[in-house]
Amino acid sequence: MRVATVDSTQRVAFELAEGGAADGTVVIADTQTAGRGRRGRTWHDAPGDSVLMSVILRPRLRVADLSKLSLAAAVAVAEAIAATTELDVRLKWPNDVLVSGRKLAGILLESRIEREPIVVAGIGINLRQRTFPLALADAATSIDLEGGRAVEREALLEAVLDAFDHWRALLGRAGFAPLRERWLALADTIGRVVTVGEHAGVAVDLSTDGALVLRQEIGLQHVFAGEITDARRG
Ligand code: BTN
Repeated sequence: MRVATVDSTQRVAFELAEGGAADGTVVIADTQTAGRGRRGRTWHDAPGDSVLMSVILRPRLRVADLSKLSLAAAVAVAEAIAATTELDVRLKWPNDVLVSGRKLAGILLESRIEREPIVVAGIGINLRQRTFPLALADAATSIDLEGGRAVEREALLEAVLDAFDHWRALLGRAGFAPLRERWLALADTIGRVVTVGEHAGVAVDLSTDGALVLRQEIGLQHVFAGEITDARRG
């Protein structure tokens, strides 16, 4: 489903999902008036200059494994951007997509578990923005600003959806191991001294159950959810 202007593609996707829309249904917008980011933040876009989409997922995974879908989305978005633009794309745990240390794409997984889990994967990619609001200026970037090869919005969208289908299918078929390996190969976080909520330490691994592993003086700490607020080279 395509819309020109919408408050949030996440809201529309949940509405469609609750009305019975199938796994894989996609909602795409040109612009959002109330784009949702992680942790209650808003997601900024410039009309027509971003990829804004929400994918309805009806996963056959255990609830504990749902976070792996967000890692699958991150790997898919990173691979699609790298393949279409030739930019050197990196992942910040769990699912920020960075180029030159700045955020180029964000992913928001929201779930509602009623009779069965409905997950909506929201993906925002900065494509053509040349400027950002002051508060984002140091942290955000776009494919155009980074000098990536020009890519049509449609082509990027298709590449993301294909890659996401691939990683979702592989997760179902082969388990987490291949995805974990690919996420680690793309990671910017490993080797950095990071802070995630009350935890701080050197990020040394992604565990086989999807947690970020921090090395602390007292030993290894597995962090399953949260956001990195500080990351320095170790
Ligand atoms: C983040 O904070 O990094 C996640 C941003 C997710 C933004 C996308 S844009 C399409 C979809 N609709 C929304 O309202 N949010 C997600």
